[in-house]
Amino acid sequence: MLISILAKIVILTTLVSATPYPRNSQPIVRDYTDTSTPASQFRLAFNGPRGVSVSWNTPSQLDNPVVFYGEESHHLPFTSSPGTSTTFESAVSYDNHVTISGLKPFTKYYYRVTGQDESMNPEEEGFYFVTGREVGDRSPFTIAFFADMGIVVGDAFAKKIPPTFSSLYDSRNEYEFIWHSGDFAYADDWLWEELSGVLPFDLKGGANAYMNIFNAYFDHLANVTKNAVYMSGPGNHDADCIEPDLGFVNDILKFIGLNICPSGQRNFTSYLNHFNMPTKYQIEGYCQNMWYSWDYGMTHFVQINTETDFKDAPDEPDGTAFLDAGPFGSSGQQIKWLEADLASVDRSKTPWVIVAGHRPWYSAEDNCDSCKNAFEDILYKYNVDLAWFGHIHYYERDTPVYQGNPDPNGLNNPRAPWNIISGAAGNFEGFSSPKSSRPSYTEVVIDNEYGWSKMIFHNSTHLEQQYISSSTGEVLDSAILYKDHGLSW
Ligand SMILES: *[C@@H]1O[C@H](CO)[C@@H](O)[C@H](O)[C@H]1NC(C)=O
Ligand SMILES: *[C@@H]1O[C@H](CO)[C@@H](O)[C@H](O)[C@H]1NC(C)=O
Ligand SMILES: *[C@@H]1O[C@H](CO)[C@@H](O)[C@H](O)[C@H]1NC(C)=O
Repeated sequence: MLISILAKIVILTTLVSATPYPRNSQPIVRDYTDTSTPASQFRLAFNGPRGVSVSWNTPSQLDNPVVFYGEESHHLPFTSSPGTSTTFESAVSYDNHVTISGLKPFTKYYYRVTGQDESMNPEEEGFYFVTGREVGDRSPFTIAFFADMGIVVGDAFAKKIPPTFSSLYDSRNEYEFIWHSGDFAYADDWLWEELSGVLPFDLKGGANAYMNIFNAYFDHLANVTKNAVYMSGPGNHDADCIEPDLGFVNDILKFIGLNICPSGQRNFTSYLNHFNMPTKYQIEGYCQNMWYSWDYGMTHFVQINTETDFKDAPDEPDGTAFLDAGPFGSSGQQIKWLEADLASVDRSKTPWVIVAGHRPWYSAEDNCDSCKNAFEDILYKYNVDLAWFGHIHYYERDTPVYQGNPDPNGLNNPRAPWNIISGAAGNFEGFSSPKSSRPSYTEVVIDNEYGWSKMIFHNSTHLEQQYISSSTGEVLDSAILYKDHGLSW
C-alpha cells in the first residue's frame, strides 16, 4: 500500500513537469453550465415514518425549491414547504433539499419538483416514493445494502460501470429501500484514473474531473434513486479530493498556480452537501449525514461513522489514512449519541437492531482496530443483531463474533453481533483479496463477482441475508440468523 502511494507520488511529480499530451477529453455526462439543463440526481431519504426528504440537483440556484405530491399520478394537490438550494466551491450545480412531513406511513406518493414540467407523468417516469413502515409494523420486508460503489466515466465506461446499477434497477420490486454505507462514486480516484490512462491526463482540469465523476454517478443511479429511498453513510473515499491526501504535492502545485484540491472537495464537503439524512439527538447541524438512526417496521437501523469522531479515527488530521477530515461533533459526541440511541430502542416494537459502518473491525483482509476499540463493546452491550460494513472490495460472511472469538452458538441465537462485509458493488479499484490465512470467524468470501446484499426480515426471530450477483441476479450466498427476542411472532 505504502509502496504504491509512493510510486504514485513519484509518477505524479514526474508528470507535473511533463507536457500533457492531447487525448479525448472526459465525457461530460450532463452540462451544468447550460441553465436549461433539467433537474437531475434525484434521491430520497426517510425522515421518520411519516416524512421523506427529496433531493435533486439543478444548474442554477432555486429561489423556492418545492415538491408537488399526491397519491395519484395525474393529480399532485400538495406542495411542500420550501427547502434549501446551496452549492460549494468547485461544484457545478446546486443541491436542493426539501423535507416533507405529515404523510401517511407506508404509502406511495407520486411527485414532481420545482421546474419539472407539469405535463410530466410521474407514474410513467418513475417519480414516486413510499414512506417508511410504521414503528412496530410486523410485516416482513426486504432491503438492499452494499458499500463501495463507483463509476468510471470515459473510454472504459462500458467495461467499468459496475453491473450493480442495472441489477438494482432490474430488481427494484424486490427491496423497499437501499442502504449504502460509504464510498460513493470514487471521484477521488480521478488522478489515479488519469495516471492509468483511463482518463486523459489533465491536472489543470482535476477539480472538474472530480465533479464530473461525482455527478455522473448520481445521474446514472437516479433511475433507481428517484423512487428508491437511498440511506447513506460516510466512507473514506468521500473525505478528500484525492485519496490518500497528497497535501504536499498540492502545495507544490499551488506554488505553480494549480489547485488540484479545492476546499469543496475536501473534508466530506460533497458528501455532506449531497445528502439529507434524518437527525435524532443531534445538536449541531454539521453532524447530519455523519451518524444517525431510523426505525422501519420491526427494525431499528443505525448508521455509524468509522472515519472520524472517535479516538484515533483514521480519517482525522494525524490519522492513519492521511485524509485530514473532521471532526464533525464535539469530543466524544458520536459515541455518546450511539449509547443514548441504542439505550432508547424499544425491543418489543423493533426487536431487530442493525448497525452499519464503513470500515470493518473483523474481516479476512484489513481491520480497523481503532473502530473496534470505539464501537465493539457498545454494540455488544446493546445486543446489536447484525453489524455490516464495506471498505473491503469483496463479500465476506462471518459468524457472530466478539473480542475476536466466534460466538459458540453461531447463527442459532448468538449473543454477539453477526458480521458481514458487502463491499463488492464495483468501482474503479476492482476487487480486494483476503489474506491467505483466514480468521476463525470467516465463513464465506466471494471476491470475483460484483454484487449487492439483501436483508430479509421474516419476523421477530428470523433474519436472512443474501448476496446477489449483479451480472446474473443469482443468489451466490445466503444464511439465516435465528434470534430469540422474547416475542411471540
Ligand atoms: C434511465 O431510464 C431511461 C428509461 O428506461 C433510459 O432511457 C435511460 O437511458 C436511463 N438512464 C440511465 C443513465 O441509465
Ligand atoms: C471539517 O469540517 C468540520 C465541520 O465544519 C470542522 O469542524 C472541521 O474542523 C473540519 N476539518 C478540517 C480538517 O478542516
Ligand atoms: C418466522 O419466519 C421463519 C422463516 O420464514 C419461519 O420458519 C418461522 O416459522 C416464523 N416464525 C413465526 C412465529 O411465524
